[in-house]
Amino acid sequence: MKISIIGTGYVGLVTGVCLADLGNDVICVDIIKEKVDAINEGKAIIYEENLEEILNKNLKEKRIRATTSINEAVNHADVIFISVGTPSRENKAIDLGYIENTSCEIGKALKEQNDYKVIAVKSTVIPGTTENVVIPLLEEFSGKKAGKDFGVCMVPEFLREGRAIYDFMNPDRIIIGEYDKKSGNAINELFKNFSCPILRTNLRTAEMIKYASNAFLATKISFINEIANICELKGIDVNEVAKGIGLDKRIGPHFLHAGIGFGGSCFPKDVSALIASADENGYEPKLLKEVMELNERQKLWPVRKIKKIFSDLSNKKIAILGLAFKGNSDDMRESPSIPIINSLLKEKCKIYAYDPKATENAKKIFGNKINYCESVDECLNDADACIIVTDWNEFREIYDKFNLMKNKIVIDGRRIIADPEKCKKLNIKYYGVGYKNE
Ligand code: NAD
Ligand code: UGA
Repeated sequence: MKISIIGTGYVGLVTGVCLADLGNDVICVDIIKEKVDAINEGKAIIYEENLEEILNKNLKEKRIRATTSINEAVNHADVIFISVGTPSRENKAIDLGYIENTSCEIGKALKEQNDYKVIAVKSTVIPGTTENVVIPLLEEFSGKKAGKDFGVCMVPEFLREGRAIYDFMNPDRIIIGEYDKKSGNAINELFKNFSCPILRTNLRTAEMIKYASNAFLATKISFINEIANICELKGIDVNEVAKGIGLDKRIGPHFLHAGIGFGGSCFPKDVSALIASADENGYEPKLLKEVMELNERQKLWPVRKIKKIFSDLSNKKIAILGLAFKGNSDDMRESPSIPIINSLLKEKCKIYAYDPKATENAKKIFGNKINYCESVDECLNDADACIIVTDWNEFREIYDKFNLMKNKIVIDGRRIIADPEKCKKLNIKYYGVGYKNE
């Protein structure tokens, strides 16, 4: 099939590269020329395992290219995906500015077209957006009619950063929200060889499924973090509790890993947007508000711990292992490292940080207020304490390296250290979220 993708960020690039790899003929569009040039040169603009290799393979085989021209992309495609950003406004409600601009631009380009094409929204948008914002703009600027001259679908994306290619290629389900049957059939055709269930719904149900999924997963994380905080007080290891409850098929084992809260570009933004939207409709979503509040509190768990250990933190050298919001990612958006480091800087700590991939992005946030290290060893050297912020695999078994520290105090915000008991044997003072801390 001929596919175009408008907005070549995380979702757009992964979608484009994967659909090309499945044999489709793909054009990616972005307004940022540097991103377009980078893609055409075979450079992935984000860090994601295997992305660059698959991009290059498909560039070579001429199944993918990038452009800044929406006209060219609309002309080319049978299906046009919209995957531009939907950030939060200052009041935390969704900002639909990019969606509106893109809809106008696609509408204008559609005006010149005679063939039937399907426009599919892949961005995460509040229920009602495709019907009330996208379709009216497409119709106004094209002078054509949805359902007659062109098709419309809403196809939410469920990939996780760090596992994006795997998730795209191996989805648990594909949701096709359709304006009408003909539109849905076109998207169904594109995904027909995937072995997962395909659920076809109306547009606003598909939009809500995306929000409900993210809100549920965020709730699961805040739930296990709350249980972790109680476990700590009672000398119980929350990981054993999570294992025990996860064996109940009704609960399941996933997303029960206690830590210092969820970050990233999605959960915080999407749960907040759902809250704002419910509030606007006159319903107060108390559970979701509490999920967000708990998450904010949880991010500062390591700071509370360290303040209990040191009565005065000024000039203490604190090693921060991990800056990204999760392992296998260079993404700093809403990372717990931000409030943790800012709070320690206020206490006049000297911060030495190491992350295998996120340092360049972190520099844009912290500038020269902190020291950036090139290895775990450099980071831990002579430190008064260490805080593990990100669940990078390379931090799992670094027992020997803790000998480099001035005080062997380890505050594990992600429960990434494989064997906390071994720390005790090695005279390392270990504190973990939901662990049997002293
Ligand atoms: P992003 O910010 O990484 O990328 C969006 C891209 O759109 C940017 O490169 C921007 O330059 C481009 N853009 C904006 N306006 C444009 C226009 N008029 N024409 C062409 N390009 C334009 O965003 P993302 O992380 O890829 O997320 C996109 C959407 O997908 C959001 O709604 C997000 O909530 C959703 N989503 C994201 C993920 C994820 O893991 N990042 C997963 C599922 C869903
Ligand atoms: C999340 C969802 O998992 C995806 O399905 C969804 O498509 C995406 O949001 C989105 O809508 O954009 P992502 O934010 O990339 O994906 O990463 P996750 O693996 O979900 O992790 C989010 C945060 O939760 C991270 O900070 C992670 O450390 C934290 N987390 C995750 C926990 O604290 N405990 C867990 O058990 C799982």
